[in-house]
Amino acid sequence: MKKAIIFGITGQDGSHLADLLLEKEYQVIGVTRRVSVDTTSRIKHLVNHENVTIVSGDITDAHSVINILKDHQDAAEVYNLAAQSHVAVSFKQPALTWDITGKGCLNILQGLTDLQMTNTKFYQASSSEMFGSNYDTRSQDNDFDSRLPVEKYQNEETKFLPQSPYAISKCAAHYMTRLYREGYGLHASAGILFNHEGPRRGENFVTRKITKWIGDFIKWCITNDVSPKGLHDLLTNDNEIYITEGLKFPKLRLGNLDAYRDWGFAGDYCEAMWMMLQQDEPDDYVICTGETHTVREFLSIAFNSVGIKEWEDFVVVDPEFYRPAEVDYLRGDCSKAKEKLGWTPKHTFEDLVKMMVMRDLS
Ligand code: NAP
Ligand code: GDD
Repeated sequence: MKKAIIFGITGQDGSHLADLLLEKEYQVIGVTRRVSVDTTSRIKHLVNHENVTIVSGDITDAHSVINILKDHQDAAEVYNLAAQSHVAVSFKQPALTWDITGKGCLNILQGLTDLQMTNTKFYQASSSEMFGSNYDTRSQDNDFDSRLPVEKYQNEETKFLPQSPYAISKCAAHYMTRLYREGYGLHASAGILFNHEGPRRGENFVTRKITKWIGDFIKWCITNDVSPKGLHDLLTNDNEIYITEGLKFPKLRLGNLDAYRDWGFAGDYCEAMWMMLQQDEPDDYVICTGETHTVREFLSIAFNSVGIKEWEDFVVVDPEFYRPAEVDYLRGDCSKAKEKLGWTPKHTFEDLVKMMVMRDLS
């Protein structure tokens, strides 16, 4: 039985990856850090699984990382999914973000090297945020006619131009992964994953913030006997939606609605992580859908799926959610992963939005 260690098992991706590895009959060692509240809600269904062992450790503490690796030197695979992964938070807590998201990766790589675990394959969760404000271009459909609109995309060749402490920390970890691959012969691969979401997404990322709000709002309407037709007759003021003076619901407050993201389903992306570690040679791969949509488009499909067409009345654009620097456009090209790994995303953008809304309604 193959053994895999997952740093970050309690996160969105960690939980999907654990499900996948258990299906493939791995023994899973999940690392969780000590916190005063229970963080295992996403892995509740598997904590008592006979092939799962939860161990305590913090990726910022090199001592605890090396002890975990020492106890599991027979691990075939180590996945580093642990991070302070919220971009906006990284502007407020840059040093913490650096320690977890940047230096944490180094602690694992150095531990694998010190213990000479050269048979263990390592996965680093790199990010499309590393491209920041950069993209490459090619003419759309027709290479010869320069008047045609250009297509903007990012792939493994696109230069990084990071726009946040989070992205800069991810770049450092990414380069460190390459260094340990080339300098110390580790089988270390990095997946440059574009945004991926799903019902297990944290509630302060924009997609889940939207679908969670819609779920709560519809439940409030049902409780207060508002019929689907009645949704359009609700009254609003600057900050609230109301039935009567006493029955109010706060509007959904968001920041930049014009950012473009390449959004896919997290379950599909975890499969790509695993596929990378099944290769004989370590490498870096972009994982994405190749489509890009604005936050506005996400809102439109999400609200439409519960019968609300005029969603603008229910949303407030609040500068509090703007970032000091924004990433305006992300759209990946994963031709390399398609060709070398045989990976393709299985869910469309519309599937994803509807799946998230339906789950938050139930
Ligand atoms: P997530 O839901 O925020 O999960 C992050 C995980 O890291 C949680 O399990 C968290 O534990 C753990 N963690 C945080 N600080 C830690 C520390 N000091 N020591 C040990 N564990 C720690 O993130 P995700 O969406 O699953 O993403 C997984 C990874 O992929 C992250 O590295 C993220 O940066 C990267 N990534 C994500 C996306 C995306 O769109 N989701 C795209 C590209 C790259 P707690 O539960 O205790 O907080
Ligand atoms: N979180 C959030 N909250 N974002 C908002 C809001 C809001 O209220 N309103 C607008 N946005 C915009 C952000 O400004 C950004 O342009 C976009 O929505 C997506 O924001 P997030 O969902 O927070 O994701 P992200 O793109 O910043 O980062 C995610 O994807 C990266 C990969 O590209 C995270 O999962 C990162 O960990 C990951 O590396």
